[in-house]
Formats: sequence, structure tokens, C-alpha cells
Amino acid sequence: MSQPSFTRSFTKIYRKGPYPSISPTLPALSAAGKTVLITAGHTGIGYAIATNFAVAGAAHVIIVGRRADVLEKGSHDLAMANPATKFHVFAASITDVDKVHTMFEEIRRDIMEPDILVTSAAQFTAPTTTFETSVQQISASFETNVTANLTLVQDFLGHAASRSSGAAAPRNRSGPSSLTVQTVRSV
Ligand SMILES: NC(=O)c1ccc[n+]([C@@H]2O[C@H](COP(=O)([O-])OP(=O)(O)OC[C@H]3O[C@@H](n4cnc5c(N)ncnc54)[C@H](OP(=O)(O)O)[C@@H]3O)[C@@H](O)[C@H]2O)c1
Repeated sequence: MSQPSFTRSFTKIYRKGPYPSISPTLPALSAAGKTVLITAGHTGIGYAIATNFAVAGAAHVIIVGRRADVLEKGSHDLAMANPATKFHVFAASITDVDKVHTMFEEIRRDIMEPDILVTSAAQFTAPTTTFETSVQQISASFETNVTANLTLVQDFLGHAASRSSGAAAPRNRSGPSSLTVQTVRSV
């Protein structure tokens, strides 16, 4: 993401990486033993987040995106640079509700209960005039950026499981109060 070129900016310093007070090596920010699920962890800011969770000691980082080849390359590069963390990939669109639900079942069964969800997958439309704006593109963006992310958060929190069984979803290690959802958004 390029640096904005405002003539007057309230942001004094633009940073491109972690700085001392948010360093992933700080004990207070340790992710030791955690399982982190990151949508779009194979590109852009998601890739940087995946890297820094690995530096912070995460045991498992799970990356979700649609392009299998880009996922594989991202996961391979992350694993080479961070050998202590296990990287996993799921090729899926977050708008595919059934696939997302199955993915959570597989993660819970084969890997570990996710502790942290980072929603970095996003669909952008090029800025344009009102008349030139495509309604289909806006709908697709809304589906990805809003409804799909809501489904992800519900599945992460075990909402789907608890809704069908009428009971709280089972969790391996930690209760809902210890879960973290992080949404990546520009202001
Ligand atoms: N980059 C920054 O410095 C920065 C700073 C602050 C906030 N943000 C925010 O962070 C988010 C990501 O931005 P970015 O710059 O990192 O862009 P990016 O690299 O282009 O990330 C978008 C990713 O989303 C994935 N994606 C899109 N639709 C998807 C879907 N339906 N299912 C699964 N994955 C999907 C794409 O992967 P596939 O095509 O493989 O699915 C792509 O890798 C945005 O919300 C942005 O506003 C970015």
C-alpha cells in the first residue's frame, strides 16, 4: 500500500513494519503455542501479519485464499523463513459458506482449535464516478468484505455448531473469552 500524499496529514510517521513498542518479540505480545487463522495471509498485509505471528512464536498459522498456487508459494516462503511454525493452507473463497464451515471442521479435527482469526481478505473496486459504478461489483465487495467476514467470525466463535446443537460449541483448550478477532481495515 503506497503512502498517502496528503498535503497535511495527522499521521506524523508512516511505518512499513513493526517498531519497538509493537515488536512481535515482546514477551507481552507472545503468541507462543497459538493457532492463528489468517484470510489472505499469502499476500499483502496478511503475509506481513503471518510473518509476525510466526516471529511471535505461533505454533500453527493457517492461511485461506482462492488461488492455490499463490497460497502454496506464500506458505512455502513463510515456512522457509520461520521453521518453528507450521503453516497450513486452505484454497477457498470466504464467500463459500459451506466450504468455510467445512474448513473450520477440518481445522478443529486435524490441526487445533484456532485461537486468533485475522480477516485480511478483501475485494476492492477501483474508485470511479457514481454513474460508472458497477452495482454487481459493489454487491460482490459487500459479500466478501461484510457478509463473508461475518460468517467467518460466527464459525470461528462456534456459532454455527452451537446453533445446530443448541449447546455451546466444544473447544479444545480455551473458552470464548480468550479468543481474538482482528480485522484489517484501512481508515
Ligand atoms: N496493505 C496495507 O498496507 C494495508 C494497511 C491497512 C489495511 N489494509 C487492509 O487489509 C486488507 C488487505 O489488503 P492488502 O493490501 O493486503 O491487499 P491484497 O494483498 O490484495 O489482499 C487481498 C487478498 O484477499 C484475497 N481475497 C479476496 N477475495 C477473497 C475471497 N473471496 N476469499 C478468500 N480470499 C480472498 C486475495 O487472495 P486470492 O485472490 O488468492 O483469494 C488477496 O490475496 C484490506 O481490507 C485493506 O484495506 C491493508
